[in-house]
Parts: sequence; structure tokens; C-alpha cells
Amino acid sequence: MPAVPVPPVGGQVPPVGGPLTPEYYSKSCPRAERIIAEVVQLKQMANPTTAAGVLRVFFHDCFVSGCDASVLIASNQFAKSEQAADINHSLPGDAFDAVVRAKLALELECPGVVSCADILALASRTLVTMTGGPRYDVPLGRKDSLSSSPTAPDVELPHANFTVDHLIQMFAAKGFTVQELVALSGAHTLGFSHCKEFADRLYNFRDRGGKPEAFDPSMNPSYARGLQAVCQDYLKDPTIAAFNDIMTPGKFDNMYFINLERGLGLLSTDEELWTDPRTKPLVHLYATNSTAFFDDFGRAMEKLSLFRVKTGADGEVRRRCDTYNHGPMPK
Ligand code: HEM
Repeated sequence: MPAVPVPPVGGQVPPVGGPLTPEYYSKSCPRAERIIAEVVQLKQMANPTTAAGVLRVFFHDCFVSGCDASVLIASNQFAKSEQAADINHSLPGDAFDAVVRAKLALELECPGVVSCADILALASRTLVTMTGGPRYDVPLGRKDSLSSSPTAPDVELPHANFTVDHLIQMFAAKGFTVQELVALSGAHTLGFSHCKEFADRLYNFRDRGGKPEAFDPSMNPSYARGLQAVCQDYLKDPTIAAFNDIMTPGKFDNMYFINLERGLGLLSTDEELWTDPRTKPLVHLYATNSTAFFDDFGRAMEKLSLFRVKTGADGEVRRRCDTYNHGPMPK
């Protein structure tokens, strides 16, 4: 006799559409993964800042209402979206362009099938691997959101002036451990930050007791002086930026952690991971053991990619990633 499905204990109904699986598109769009990989690899070769941009967009998508492509919705005259939040102003156009290109190619191959949320998750994985990082599993079947809040990102995402306490609390509130916080921060092995994000470490710096210093003394002095020179006109030109990982900026490796041990962390949130006793041992582990970093980063990214995903009628498969299928207003 065939087994009768037993409802889960506690009366909890599993999400409509079932759990995510790596084979989700194996029948409906078998070449989806290959197409996304090809498109974003070409984009990365033409614009090498794409990988970092896509990875950051993915993080900003997932931490705000789950991995549901809500960050890809464009603001319009009727409604502002997550893109209107201050913290999202610096998300680079090349990252959005990579997703748009992948979506266009997929709509030609299998229209209306592959969600923008899945595209973003797969594009991030491809680009992490392409720049030298680990390959991790990406279960598929996310639906795209039916709303996008302009105020949520500034509340839900970490800022560069947070203390480690605040970071730990924010990540814990979303179910992420201290280890996952440190491993995921290793994404700052790629890309860059604008001077305004770390200028208070360089100019008019005061220690906790209010004593003025030439710069944040936790920084390597030559590094700090170099950054002071690079950023000197940042108020006039807010586009000036510095690499997050000064040693190997385009390579996904564990150099970010090695840098922290040498006072070469760019953001104060980066450097504080090396000074706080709760995070320091993990920084040291990842600085000395790149395999441990890659394993933990891969696991944490897979977990991040499953954060509050929408399935079934909770979402839709958008035809265009920047707008809802029913029109410009959120439902
Ligand atoms: C732990 C707390 C975090 C803080 C406070 C933080 C903050 C920041 C800031 C201020 C920037 C510079 C943005 C700019 O000036 O354009 C940045 C860049 C970046 N962040 Fe984070 N971030 C954090 C965690 C993460 C995580 C978990 C990821 C991904 C898994 C990530 C990926 C990136 C990437 C790849 C860039 C470079 C972007 C580019 O070059 O376009 N960050 N982050």
C-alpha cells in the first residue's frame, strides 16, 4: 500500500510549492543554470566590478524581506522601492545589468519560468566561484516578491559604523551565528567602498576618551596615510573609493582576514572583527586556513540564499526583474 502523507506535527503546513531543490528547473528549463553562468561570466569579463556588485546586491536582497528579488524592483512615479533607500544608492548598475541580461536570455529560452530571485542567487554563486571562491549548493524555486519597501533596507541592513555588538545582534535576529557573520563578512575580499564609509577613521579621529588622533590607531599607519591621500577630496567627489581588500582586490580568497590581522581592514566594522574577543578567533582561523573559510562561507551563503524565500502563491515569477507582473504598484 502506498504511504499516506502524514501532516507535520504541530499542525504546521509546509510552504505551498514545497521546499527548494537544485533540480527545480530540470524539466521546465534544463539549461537555466548554464545560461545564467554564461551571461554573467561574459559580463564579469567585460566589467570586472560585476562580481562584487552582484554579491552585495544579493546580500541586500536577502537580508530585507528574504531572497525574493525585492531589491531589483525599480522606483517609479507611483511607488518608491528598496532602491530608494540610502544604503542602496551605492549598489552598482553593472550588478543589475548582469541580472537583466541573464533574464533576457532566459525569457527567450523558457519564458515566464525562472524567477529573478533564483537568477540573483545563481549569478552570485557563479561569480564567487569564477573569482576564485568556493562552489556551494544553491537550491532553487524561489518566487519573486509582490512588494519592495523603500524604508526597510536602512533598518534591516548593517551599516559601516555599527559596533560588533550591533552586528552580532542584527545577524542573530535573523538566525545567523557569530561564525556565519564572520564568514559572510569575508565577501569583503572583493569590491570597494566609497570614502564616506570610512572617512571618520581618517580625519578628525578621536579615541573613546575624546583624545584627537591623526587617524584610527587600529589602522596600519602607512595604510591610513595612503587612504588619507586617496580620499582627501571625497566631499567634492563622492565617487572616490578604495578596494576592500588592498592586497588581492579582484580575487575571492582569505586575504581579507589576513589584512585584518595587519591593520589593513577598510571599514571599522571589518577591523573590529579582529579586536572583539568573540570574533577574533574566527578571523584568525580564516586568515590561517583558507579551506575553513571557503567551507564556512559556502555553507553560510547557502543558508543566506534560503532566508525567508517565498514559494507558491506568496510570490510570482516576474517577466521583468525590475517590475511586478501586475504593473508598477506593489500589491
Ligand atoms: C557585516 C556587516 C556588513 C557591513 C557593515 C557592510 C558594509 C558595506 C559597505 C559600507 C560597503 C561599501 C559600499 C559602497 O561604498 O559602495 C560594502 C561593500 C560590499 N559588501 Fe558589505 N557589509 C557587510 C556585510 C556584507 C555581506 C554579508 C556581504 C555578502 C555576503 C557583503 C558584500 C559586500 C561586497 C561584495 C561589497 C563590495 C561592493 C562593490 O564593490 O560594488 N557585505 N559593504
